[in-house]
Amino acid sequence: MTKQPHVLDGVAIASEIKAEVGLEVSKLVEQGITPGLAVILVGNVAASEIYVRSKVKTCGELGIFSELIAPPETVTTEEMLELVAKLNAREDIDGILIQLPLPKHVDTKRLLEAVSPDKDVDGFHPVNAGRLQSGQPGLQPCTPAGIIEVLKRARLPIAGQNAVVVGRSDIVGKPAALLLLNESATVTVCHSRTHDLAAVTRGADIIVAAIGRPGFITAEMVKPGAVLIDVGINRLTDKADVEKFFAGDEKRAATFEKKGSVIVGDIDPAAFKISSAYTPVPGGVGALTIAMLMHNTVKAARLRRGFSAESK
Ligand code: GUN
Repeated sequence: MTKQPHVLDGVAIASEIKAEVGLEVSKLVEQGITPGLAVILVGNVAASEIYVRSKVKTCGELGIFSELIAPPETVTTEEMLELVAKLNAREDIDGILIQLPLPKHVDTKRLLEAVSPDKDVDGFHPVNAGRLQSGQPGLQPCTPAGIIEVLKRARLPIAGQNAVVVGRSDIVGKPAALLLLNESATVTVCHSRTHDLAAVTRGADIIVAAIGRPGFITAEMVKPGAVLIDVGINRLTDKADVEKFFAGDEKRAATFEKKGSVIVGDIDPAAFKISSAYTPVPGGVGALTIAMLMHNTVKAARLRRGFSAESK
């Protein structure tokens, strides 16, 4: 009988990280410092509202001050730049998060560059991207940093492993590849123009899937025993798709009946079965993103005051 894969429980790892961050917060509070996060949410994108609510709630749980700023959909780039400049100058704000996506008429690139790199808790500023690229300490994007935490805390080897990242976004794919490289993995980055993707992924010891296409990585593309990290969150609303990915899964079928949709990652659940370890969707990498945002906020609060990144 083949060995059952190990489920990498993102919720449990996120709880562990949040407990550590909470401890760091209490040490800062003893010194009269309360870390503060400003979250900017523009317009009424339902998914963004859910994420932002969760970010603000988690701040409260860990003793981090948070301020939600919600300009109207009609806000201009200039008005947003003014808002960011004010937050950059505020002593009680350590982190500034601009929830994406922004309305089309707002210049996202210009805004992300306007955030002080020292308060860039998303790690999206070119200065922080450059620091990551050159292996210097800085604020790192939350989801990729969460992936490294999952691998390390599960004691899965990274150094010397063949890691294949599928997807080259600035937010996940590229920084994930750099973080894996900094941990001495042998890294390949694949994307929509890659020839014979399956031949590349079949050589992987670790696959990071971040392409935003439901069940895109199939079992035939995976070497038995590989570690699978699934960053995708895709909503299935078609019953045929649900049956294709979750045949025989009564729990998923019940969810679909009740809600009219279920979530699947970028990796076909059939591939999980032949892996040695995998992050489920939901309950995998997604859970880590907010925990790492909290970690970054406290890190920013410490570094801005000339302290080391962590107290120990
Ligand atoms: N929208 C979706 N994911 C993210 C994220 O990690 N940060 C921000 N700022 N916006 C997002």
